[in-house]
Amino acid sequence: MPADIVVDALYKFFKKGRPGEVRAVDGVSFQIEKGELFGLLGPNGAGKTTLIKCISTLLIPDAGSIRVAGFDVNKDPLKVRQQIGVLTGGERSLYWKLTPIENLRYFAALYGVPRNQVKERIDYLLSLMELKDKAHTRVEKLSSGMKQKLSIARVLVHNPPILLVDEPTIGLDPYFAQFVRNFIKHELNQRLGKTILLTTHYMDEADALCDRVAFMNQGRIDALDTPTRLKRSIIKKEILEIKCLGELQKEEFPALENLLSLNITRLDGFTYIRMGTDNPERLLSRVIDFIQHRVKVYSVQVTSPSLEDVFVYLTGASLRQGGDDA
Ligand SMILES: Nc1ncnc2c1ncn2[C@@H]1O[C@H](COP(=O)(O)OP(=O)(O)O)[C@@H](O)[C@H]1O
Ligand SMILES: [Mg+2]
Repeated sequence: MPADIVVDALYKFFKKGRPGEVRAVDGVSFQIEKGELFGLLGPNGAGKTTLIKCISTLLIPDAGSIRVAGFDVNKDPLKVRQQIGVLTGGERSLYWKLTPIENLRYFAALYGVPRNQVKERIDYLLSLMELKDKAHTRVEKLSSGMKQKLSIARVLVHNPPILLVDEPTIGLDPYFAQFVRNFIKHELNQRLGKTILLTTHYMDEADALCDRVAFMNQGRIDALDTPTRLKRSIIKKEILEIKCLGELQKEEFPALENLLSLNITRLDGFTYIRMGTDNPERLLSRVIDFIQHRVKVYSVQVTSPSLEDVFVYLTGASLRQGGDDA
């Protein structure tokens, strides 16, 4: 069976050939199998949304090809659109003056859902999203969680086999973010069998949800595998984490023996120095020499790598750079 999404040698530049040219997608190839939940992971600006827009026919690639359910995005964009639903976190994709049922009727007509199926489809989606008792309440009066549920229903109205989900939990409170993650994995992927391409810059989200993950950075895919295999690929390394008080920049850190990767983040007033190493004890003594006059060490621990550590190890980049959740 051919893969559901086939991206081959794809390029998309902005301001092509002009000053300030951006290589948003810079030679990317991968395939997503039918029924797979595939994660595209990378920091802000990596090119994830641009790639999603190319796949969903909103942007025309500069070079390369994309096939969705066997249809070429350039030759058959309308067929491609029938096969996909695009869900974007934090987006206003609903008519706030209309009720949920009116919104869904509108989008059903837009997507050409056969008239004799519309009522059944909408009933099904409203109960799936637990919105039945709000069916006739104007969208503007719904809570933000309910609006997001209705956005999900909207994306499913033409029952597409393939879903493109761009940063689904951005801006959601933790409780509802967890609901959305569970719904994507257990309901949409596992129960309804949808093929899903999900982008995120949250490592834990990708780790928990995805069958396979591609690391995207500066328009390129640096690694692609299952989360388990990606972590195993650097498992011989351990992570030495020093929690301290005071500020320290990555740039002022010296190159030390046994230091394989470095990530410095700040959270709740503490600075966390996470170092990939093949010898934590030796590295610790050298690091302490360097940092003891700069910061106050609060705690030290050695752990095994997370997916984020793999990303830092492979790309040298931190996912949180320029992120909104640092
Ligand atoms: N319409 C545009 N015009 C110019 N540059 C853009 C446009 N859209 C995105 N970019 C740039 O392309 C790069 C990739 O952006 P994007 O695909 O939004 O990344 P991500 O979704 O991973 O955060 C960034 O450098 C961004 O500034
Ligand atoms: Mg984006």
